[in-house]
Amino acid sequence: MATYDLVVIGTGPGGYVCAVRASQLGMKVAVVEKDATLGGTCLNVGCMPSKALLHASEMFEEAGHSFAKMGVSVSTPKLELPAMMNFKQQGIDGNVKGVEFLMKKNKVDVLKGTGKILGTGKVEVSADGKSQVIETRNIVIATGSDIARLKGIEIDEKRIVSSTGALSLDKVPGKLLIVGAGVIGLELGSVWKRLGAEVVVVEFLDRILPGMDGEIAKQFQRILEKQGFAFKLGAKVTAVDTSGKTLKATIEPAAGGAAETLEADVVLVCIGRVPYTDGLGLKEAGVALDPRGRVQIDPHFATSLKGVYAIGDVVAGPMLAHKAEDEGVAVAEIIAGQAGHVNYDVIPGVVYTTPEVSCVGKTEEELKQAGVAYTVGKFPFTANGRSKVNQTTDGFVKILADAKTDRVLGVHIIGIEAGEMIHEACVLMEFGGSAEDLARTCHAHPTRSEAIKEAALAVGKRAIHM
Ligand code: FAD
Ligand code: NAI
Repeated sequence: MATYDLVVIGTGPGGYVCAVRASQLGMKVAVVEKDATLGGTCLNVGCMPSKALLHASEMFEEAGHSFAKMGVSVSTPKLELPAMMNFKQQGIDGNVKGVEFLMKKNKVDVLKGTGKILGTGKVEVSADGKSQVIETRNIVIATGSDIARLKGIEIDEKRIVSSTGALSLDKVPGKLLIVGAGVIGLELGSVWKRLGAEVVVVEFLDRILPGMDGEIAKQFQRILEKQGFAFKLGAKVTAVDTSGKTLKATIEPAAGGAAETLEADVVLVCIGRVPYTDGLGLKEAGVALDPRGRVQIDPHFATSLKGVYAIGDVVAGPMLAHKAEDEGVAVAEIIAGQAGHVNYDVIPGVVYTTPEVSCVGKTEEELKQAGVAYTVGKFPFTANGRSKVNQTTDGFVKILADAKTDRVLGVHIIGIEAGEMIHEACVLMEFGGSAEDLARTCHAHPTRSEAIKEAALAVGKRAIHM
């Protein structure tokens, strides 16, 4: 008889949530983790530390620039970077302990070591030169992702850093050169910009935040430029000379042409992430990968090997913690014989800058490409009372609704707290709601969320405050 009903390899948000749900459903569960702490990328070097630094650096910026206009007089704030890093570490530790507690509470065995799949029902766990083979009815691969690297540019995590190094710099770089205007570049660029760095972002495409609605990305770029970001779009970094005291990066136009050199104290490479399957023994065990190295799964998360499933960053789809978590719940329910399911049309995305950017559903570009007739309702925060009194009026809400049925197909927001505001759109879309449903829902006054109601009214060309 197998020792476990389920062994989950990896304890990021996909893996640990899957383990908890499986335990709730009565399974005997173990998780395998190769790193010293539980929680994966998200808790240790991703979502959580970046949000701690975003919060702390925002407070620093506010104290220096926004308090005075509200009549709050403080002496010029002084940065104590080690203390800020300590604040970040306390946040990480608290969350990691939280996952340890959840494992105990749900009677999930934690097996420390590297997991390797030997075949259906067999996982080898190795640590410190010793290994043991665990028997289990089911296996879930939740091994996440790793940083993507640039050919010829070696990351030393000191001067040429990935997101991991950028979360732990020991001093504020005078000049920070960021390669890639995606989520990491803009979030961590914001952190170091607020703390005093000069930030230049080099992006291969002719726009920032590919995949997000184009109009939103354009306005967001303008807002970031106002904050002091410099962008070099349609350009790529082809080499970084590390021989001198200052780094010298060679930048070439993406379309070809003359190269230029930019100096920097630190270069942050954030050009995406790649699935992580090292050491899992997938090839030998017969678990198929797709051409991009992701574990191939069917609509029920099953891989090509019987009894082996995969979820999270290691499979296709957006590399987001909440997507991994929802897949973790769904696969546990499927293994338990239930109808676990993830609605991929309603997965929100948030960029935690100031202001925040959030989205759910289709962009205008996607609707155009699919030939769907749609109506647009927009409402700027300059016309929202709460934003006006707080003097935080950057951004707008944009709602895309089906021209025939009025069903909401996409919602995009730039603005303070946009990451919290997006969820009423998620719930509405989960229930197949219309712009009219949103427009007729009473919203508390004065809130920023009233801008969502007004944008929904604007779909029917009847916004009140505009
Ligand atoms: P991971 O979190 O990567 O966890 C995988 C785990 O598996 C790791 O602990 C790893 O050690 C372990 N593992 C791998 N192989 C083995 C093996 N063979 N044996 C044992 N253990 C193994 N997403 C958001 O939604 N919101 C955010 O704000 C956000 N911010 C981010 C900021 C940064 C800087 C980064 C880098 C990422 C961010 N993400 C964010 C993305 C998010 O971290 C990932 O989408 C999420 O962690 C994926 O979860 P996962 O469970 O699939 O994998
Ligand atoms: P990303 O995919 O968001 O952005 C990478 C950017 O780099 C793209 O704009 C791309 O066009 C550009 N690029 C690629 N190659 C390049 C080159 N050679 N030169 C210049 N530019 C180049 O990836 P990022 O920012 O590294 O983040 C990785 C993942 O982590 C994302 O998938 C994201 O989902 C997740 N994440 C999520 C966060 C959130 O939800 N708030 C925060 C941080 C990360």
